[in-house]
Amino acid sequence: VSRFDVVVVGSGVAGLSIAQRLAESSLEVALITKATVSDSTTTWAQGGVAAVMGNDEDSIDLHVADTLRAGAGLCDIEAVQVLIEEGPRRVAELIELGASFDRNDEGRLALAREGGHSHARVLHAGGAATGVEVQRTLVDALFQSSATVLEHHLATSLRVGANGIEGLSALTRGGELREITAEHVVLASGGAGQLFEVTTNPPEATGDGVALALRAGVPVADVEFMQFHPTALHAAISPRPLLSEALRGHGALLRDGAGDRFVDELAPRDVVARAMAKVMAEQGLDHLWLDATSLERFAERFPSLEARLREAGLDASEAWIPVAPAAHHWAGGVMTDLVGSTMLEGLWAAGEVANSGVHGANRLASNSLLEGLVFGARVAEALLQGGRGPSATGLLRALVAPRSGGIPAVSAQCRDAAREGAEALRETQGMGTLERRSLLQATMTRHAGVVRSAEGLERAAAIVGGLAAQLGQAARSFGEAELGNLALGASALLCSAAQREESRGSHVRADFPEPSVAWERRIVHQREEGVGP
Ligand code: SIN
Repeated sequence: VSRFDVVVVGSGVAGLSIAQRLAESSLEVALITKATVSDSTTTWAQGGVAAVMGNDEDSIDLHVADTLRAGAGLCDIEAVQVLIEEGPRRVAELIELGASFDRNDEGRLALAREGGHSHARVLHAGGAATGVEVQRTLVDALFQSSATVLEHHLATSLRVGANGIEGLSALTRGGELREITAEHVVLASGGAGQLFEVTTNPPEATGDGVALALRAGVPVADVEFMQFHPTALHAAISPRPLLSEALRGHGALLRDGAGDRFVDELAPRDVVARAMAKVMAEQGLDHLWLDATSLERFAERFPSLEARLREAGLDASEAWIPVAPAAHHWAGGVMTDLVGSTMLEGLWAAGEVANSGVHGANRLASNSLLEGLVFGARVAEALLQGGRGPSATGLLRALVAPRSGGIPAVSAQCRDAAREGAEALRETQGMGTLERRSLLQATMTRHAGVVRSAEGLERAAAIVGGLAAQLGQAARSFGEAELGNLALGASALLCSAAQREESRGSHVRADFPEPSVAWERRIVHQREEGVGP
């Protein structure tokens, strides 16, 4: 048994920021990660970090307004204000720590524009390799701190006592189960793009933190809102290479099968992905085209994208690039207050795994590295001040003090898909873990992608429920543990998506195409501990 004051689970922007800040204090801190410390979705982030860093025409109020508009009525306004107001300070700290963002000829930060932003305010590094630079900076800082780093450790369950968190169990890649005792556990394990066959997320993005929280009975919300990035390269490559929204910010155009434009390329992501899905369905196509032929100095401005396209045999200056939407960012997650505390004492969450209320039904482009920086710093500060337990702020207002305003919460109403599905899936009994993961991903892409319907969601729930019912109680390998986490996340997503009979943000129902005032509320999942996959 190992013993720490704080265990941080995950090595993306949020986890690294927290561990590195805490390790400067007298606290014993460990960071555990299931691959190496440099493997995280942060590394894959392209476009950048949105923050108001001194462009005179821009303002905090405008960035707040853009974020709320993109979030389609489900953002927590207080959380958004925190994000945008504190963002510039956290970005400045990252620069002090050694992050090198691209600059213009006068030496000022070069700012790009992306969809849903009224102004150019997106900082970037290496053209479209921002995540690599953010990760490098924070990993360097972590290795200079006193934090213990445990690589190839996958957290499989939280240990909870009468006074909240007591630690966690983690599986090593070699199959050994380790017990780790801790006063506090911080979930910073990222998203779950691997729920889908077509995704921009790395293989590690399997929704582990949400599954840990659900199994421990901790509330999770907004899981129906999976954002689909409009322009992933349409190629038989997994994960799908992303073609940064910054390309559209620089003037690249979307074209349909006839070569015509069909949408404002700088509308928020949900609007663009939805328009693409409609055109693809009408024209019987499985992809459309991104026309970047008029962009000047493409190779110089976007060297990593140029190299990636060249590898795929494409030249963006000569030909249109085939693109299609791909699962990209999970807006939903473990519900937190404004300092990252969850409803369980000693359990915290920050970054994509958390639902702090900043994204609502659709995240504004380049607000997620920012979220990791801002809420990572908030969790660290709250821990250093001796915090433990939720406050009636941010998203937790609806649970801690339901009459104090904010967006109302309703409980998820899930069918027993596992029982029905088990019947439907007798034939999958002999399948191995990888085959089952592929079946789950294909099912989600087919039935719970950009456009959903009651019928498709029901079909998917039966298949996923069947897979979940076939899983053993205790996972003996990373593959089994990840499949269990994916099945749990998929079941929650399908349940909420079926319940939300409207279209809002990144949740689109063919059978309920309009937003409904009755659904200006969030769907909360809270399971009894130990029940289900
Ligand atoms: C992109 O570069 O298009 C991705 C940025 C983001 O997802 O925020």
